[in-house]
Amino acid sequence: MKALAFLLAIYVDFAATAYVIRRKPSLSDLSFNGRQAVVLNDRFKSFNTSTPCTNGETACIGGSFGLCVHGRFSVARCPTTTSCFALPLTDSIGTSVACTTERDMIARIEATGVSVSDIHDPQTSPLLDPRVFSPNSLDDGQSDYPEVGQSPSRTSPNNFINWCLTVNKPLTAGRQLKNGSCSPTPMGDIPAFTNMPSSKFQSPLNNAEIAANTTFVVTLAVAHLETGHFVNASSNFYSAPQEVGAGGDIKGHSHVVIEKLASMTQTTPTDPTKFVFFKGLNLAGDVLSAEVTNGLDEGVYRIASVMTAANHQPVLSPVAQHGSADDMIYISVKAVTTIPAMEGNGTPNNCSSIPT
Ligand SMILES: *[C@@H]1O[C@H](CO)[C@@H](O)[C@H](O)[C@H]1NC(C)=O
Ligand SMILES: *[C@@H]1O[C@H](CO)[C@@H](O)[C@H](O)[C@H]1NC(C)=O
Ligand SMILES: *[C@@H]1O[C@H](CO)[C@@H](O)[C@H](O)[C@H]1NC(C)=O
Ligand SMILES: *[C@@H]1O[C@H](CO)[C@@H](O)[C@H](O)[C@H]1NC(C)=O
Ligand SMILES: *[C@@H]1O[C@H](CO)[C@@H](O)[C@H](O)[C@H]1NC(C)=O
Repeated sequence: MKALAFLLAIYVDFAATAYVIRRKPSLSDLSFNGRQAVVLNDRFKSFNTSTPCTNGETACIGGSFGLCVHGRFSVARCPTTTSCFALPLTDSIGTSVACTTERDMIARIEATGVSVSDIHDPQTSPLLDPRVFSPNSLDDGQSDYPEVGQSPSRTSPNNFINWCLTVNKPLTAGRQLKNGSCSPTPMGDIPAFTNMPSSKFQSPLNNAEIAANTTFVVTLAVAHLETGHFVNASSNFYSAPQEVGAGGDIKGHSHVVIEKLASMTQTTPTDPTKFVFFKGLNLAGDVLSAEVTNGLDEGVYRIASVMTAANHQPVLSPVAQHGSADDMIYISVKAVTTIPAMEGNGTPNNCSSIPT
């Protein structure tokens, strides 16, 4: 009985320290707690005394009660006829870990309206699995001496999974909604520092002068982008996280966009709603190309790459400070001069020569 008293004391002191939110639970909170308990009991099956933990964390380890002390689980055997289980709380949002009978565990979970036999697959579960809870999202980043002008970050106890409810806009839901939308998709797999994507135009060259109204091909060399990955842009826009391939590079594709400038020395920002050419570079390869059929009219232009992941979101790098993933070059497009045929020579006019 002494052991049980010890366990009950732990139960009170440390019960589910990580995930408890103190407010009166509603019916949906209780079902949340029930589901969370199912998830945890499933998760505990893979726990042993070598599982890394944070001090004060409780878990079940091989049916015994585990309390994390100095970064390792210290295990206390449950009284006979009982075993260790995660249980739904009834007075707060969260779960506790305690020794009880299996029958009691099932009764407590089923009292929340959740069936323990629900097979927990994290990829189909509507719940946040505690293993992907991002604890830093509880910290607004403002130390005692924040950088001047630095804003407190928004914080969330559930990875912002329902955040779009706070945005008065439709869900993006795979669509390109011109009036704006809210995307609930997580950002996803971020590559290593050594695999940050980059690109450079190979043709035209920066400052090139090319002939007006004449077909030309834009070629773009890309590094550290696993090209050839693009999804349906009308049904799956932003609808899945960024992914990294076996080689460590982001799976995605690039684009070419050409905007007309007022002059080479234009200093006003361009209008992103206006461009003269846009093409997805969807094929796989280290050098991607797009034909600008019939070319461009006279003027000066900016040609840019737009490197994206497969679901068309901009590529995400692991650090804030890095070189640009995109390239930008500036070209002049000039009218072709007609060189008169030389007397008696018979050489045809060379219509591809451009005045300099
Ligand atoms: C503990 O679990 C880990 C991961 O499942 C496993 O690699 C390790 O061998 C286990 N250790 C013991 C002592 O069972
Ligand atoms: C987008 O917003 C404009 C201006 O408010 C409105 O006229 C238009 O109907 C909206 N379009 C859609 C698809 O909601
Ligand atoms: C993209 O998805 C939409 C909506 O499901 C569908 O109508 C369209 O045919 C698809 N386009 C392609 C190219 O698969
Ligand atoms: C290029 O083509 C456009 C559209 O046909 C035409 O208006 C323009 O005058 C042409 N420019 C040159 C330099 O030939
Ligand atoms: C026309 O000019 C281009 C570029 O300078 C050159 O490569 C080509 O040989 C010339 N063609 C003729 C027929 O002179």
